[in-house]
Amino acid sequence: MCLAVFKKCFNFHASSDLKKMGFYPYFHRVESEQGPEVIVDGAKKIVVCSNNYLGLANHPKVIEASVNAVKKYGTSCTGSRFLNGTNDLHEKVESKFAKFVEKEEAVLFTTGHHSNLGTLSSLVGKNEVLITDKLDHASIIDGCRLSSGELVRFRHNDMTDLERQLSKYYGKGMLIVVDGIFSMEGDMAKLPKISNLAKKYGAGVFVDEAHSLGVVGKNGKGIGEYFNMKEDIDVVMATASKSLASIGGFIASKTEIIDYIKHNARTMIFTASLPPGCVGAIDAALDLVINEPERRTKLIKISQKMKSAFEFMGYNTNNSNSPIIPLTVGNDLVAFKMWKMLFDEGIFASPVTTPAVPEGRAIIRTSYMATHSDLHLDFILEKFNKVGKQLGIIA
Ligand SMILES: Cc1ncc(COP(=O)(O)O)c(C=O)c1O
Repeated sequence: MCLAVFKKCFNFHASSDLKKMGFYPYFHRVESEQGPEVIVDGAKKIVVCSNNYLGLANHPKVIEASVNAVKKYGTSCTGSRFLNGTNDLHEKVESKFAKFVEKEEAVLFTTGHHSNLGTLSSLVGKNEVLITDKLDHASIIDGCRLSSGELVRFRHNDMTDLERQLSKYYGKGMLIVVDGIFSMEGDMAKLPKISNLAKKYGAGVFVDEAHSLGVVGKNGKGIGEYFNMKEDIDVVMATASKSLASIGGFIASKTEIIDYIKHNARTMIFTASLPPGCVGAIDAALDLVINEPERRTKLIKISQKMKSAFEFMGYNTNNSNSPIIPLTVGNDLVAFKMWKMLFDEGIFASPVTTPAVPEGRAIIRTSYMATHSDLHLDFILEKFNKVGKQLGIIA
């Protein structure tokens, strides 16, 4: 007999239905390092779904730094940053990150998700308001839900709607929270206008640079640098799981704000710290972000080439302005079918379906790395052209 609490599990058929149809796109087994080519389920695929933007996840210097950190500090810190889990390597990368994004101080959480969860929930309290873009990442929404402040959402990148919300709550403590580059759309937050409105209504500005750090701005410092407005961002968040080739999440801000977060964020206090191997990788990856700007230049060139080529074929790439190029393909089933057809053609892509996107607007989210070669890119374009035509998405 099935207990009441487990009934929903036995009535959940979404994944088994897709498996029966042969379109199941999730949890496929990668059997190699994460480069532009991977072995998935025993066969070589060209990757268009990675966040390894600068191609550092298999860089020899990053691997060496990670191995050396494990040799020196062991595999785990076995405790919270708050108690026994802080070592000199954590502090070294925090200083390096703060200097890089030009903030007084930074703190390193165990994941990017934890950074958003802990920071937003501790920073915004009762009778205060979190004003978020409707397409902000789930970890931002989770952090807002955990906060005792009020969660308010404005239409994606709609500055009139943002102002409407700010004027409604004027007089309260308000924090505007946006993705720097939106993870599914690949477009950028309108920081100049956001900053003007924040000043007008006395709100703070929090920018999640998960997809923009290392990627945009002359030195890869994110959208603050891209718009030449670094000082207009009060709190910078970035993950180490994308351009920084590891895992972990940074928050950078004024010393007093960081000190408050360190002593109040539950995801800082009640979880074990980032293991040494991951911190060592971040240390080396940050050096490469700083010292090898040519990776960023190449990535931007690749992204522009791919966006123009997809648009020329007739794909809708939405407002993408980054290495994330989403292609709108139709309903969820079309996206799953397309994923499978691409997979069979040697491409490893990501379908994004409801509820992450509105009904009928499923996408194949493509993303690029500085280490994709012209051969890889031409192969990707050829296959998307073939499959898109077969499905009637492009003419
Ligand atoms: C915009 C954004 N913020 C935060 C996160 C969470 O970061 P992490 O995967 O490092 O926990 C992600 C991850 O996909 C993201 O895309």
